[in-house]
Amino acid sequence: MSAIDHAHTIDDLRLRARRRLPRPIFDYLDGGADEEWSLGRNVTAFSDYEIVPDVLTDVSSIRTATTVFGQPAAWPLMLSATGLTRMFHGAAEPAVARAAAAQGLPYCLSTMGTTRLEDLAATVPVPMLFQVYVFKDRGLTREFVSRCREAGYAGLCLTVDTPVAGNRLRDRRSGLSLPPRLTARSLLDFALHPGWSIPALTGDRFDLANVSHRTDALATNPMSLFDFIGRQFDPGLTWRDVEWLASEWNGPLAIKGLMTPEDATRAIGSGASGVILSNHGGRQLDGAPAPIDQVAAVRDALGDGPDVICDGGVRRGSDIVKAVALGATACSIGRPYLYGLAAAGEAGVARALAILRDEFERTLALAGVPAIQSLSRRHIRHRPQVGARLRIGQ
Ligand SMILES: Cc1cc2nc3c(=O)[nH]c(=O)nc-3n(C[C@H](O)[C@H](O)[C@H](O)COP(=O)(O)O)c2cc1C
Repeated sequence: MSAIDHAHTIDDLRLRARRRLPRPIFDYLDGGADEEWSLGRNVTAFSDYEIVPDVLTDVSSIRTATTVFGQPAAWPLMLSATGLTRMFHGAAEPAVARAAAAQGLPYCLSTMGTTRLEDLAATVPVPMLFQVYVFKDRGLTREFVSRCREAGYAGLCLTVDTPVAGNRLRDRRSGLSLPPRLTARSLLDFALHPGWSIPALTGDRFDLANVSHRTDALATNPMSLFDFIGRQFDPGLTWRDVEWLASEWNGPLAIKGLMTPEDATRAIGSGASGVILSNHGGRQLDGAPAPIDQVAAVRDALGDGPDVICDGGVRRGSDIVKAVALGATACSIGRPYLYGLAAAGEAGVARALAILRDEFERTLALAGVPAIQSLSRRHIRHRPQVGARLRIGQ
């Protein structure tokens, strides 16, 4: 049994990540926007639902397989796009992709990732998704479409909840620079976390690998590539741009970052094959509702066909059972696998997925549900917990 096997919950992995990372890096991973209300609400909203069990059903074998955006998933989970992954562990995106593939789960690489999309596709020969933005420079987005097609990506995921950057107060207060730099202020923190600092300072260069060919300025000024990307976000984006991207790509397309039945219907009408209900893990609009609370209304509006993914706040396998019972095709996660990565590289990601899978299957067995297809709203009851305490930020 390795040390990471002594982590028994996602919260255990979070504590290990907090110990291993310098504080500004941990805060970048863990934090949210403004007062972090949505970040906390994403998690606590799951506690407002009870699972109503059946008994004496044969649960000696449980069928969990499904498909997500046309790709097989051994159980209803997807690993969401997260940028700057190398900052948390040198093993970076290939470690995440390998651990996901080992569990038979889809992984979505971020535009802001630190591994070239072509290199990742060559490392892990299973279908993956790529997360894009429609940048001001439409040529850059068009370039991603053709690179993804060439490299064999199975689908695109368009993130639409970033018309402007969210207000991440932890990062403002820590003065985090991207990529992280040794300054008088950070020196002590880095020195106290050699398990992170030594590989970070001696390992592969930190790079936004998929966009860095657009500027070589990173070598001379660490902020400039990020400035470049920041300037590329287009606050003028509309549904017409979704239609444009859908016709350019002409394959499975998820719209990530919407919340309402109206927008979900519009997304499908604009050429998307599914929607990812998300508030960016509470990192953008603080005060936005929790995705789990939107699942039922969106599923009712879309009917049975399109994929509906519940993204954000999942910290237990039982959360996935609740989302699927309400009508989600699957859930997706960001921080849970990043905590694992930061704690122990690929083994840590594998541990995070194993914890969630184990909890998910045990919950199904205890609920008397032998196949996820039999999960329904009959198994779930909404019971808001008055005065529920936030579990984050301790
Ligand atoms: C460190 C970090 C980086 C992220 N980077 C991206 C990104 O590049 N693109 C994107 O669409 N979402 C990004 N997200 C949001 C995730 O895709 C996902 O929506 C969110 O993490 C889900 O919430 P959870 O962390 O509670 O699971 C990021 C999230 C985190 C924590």
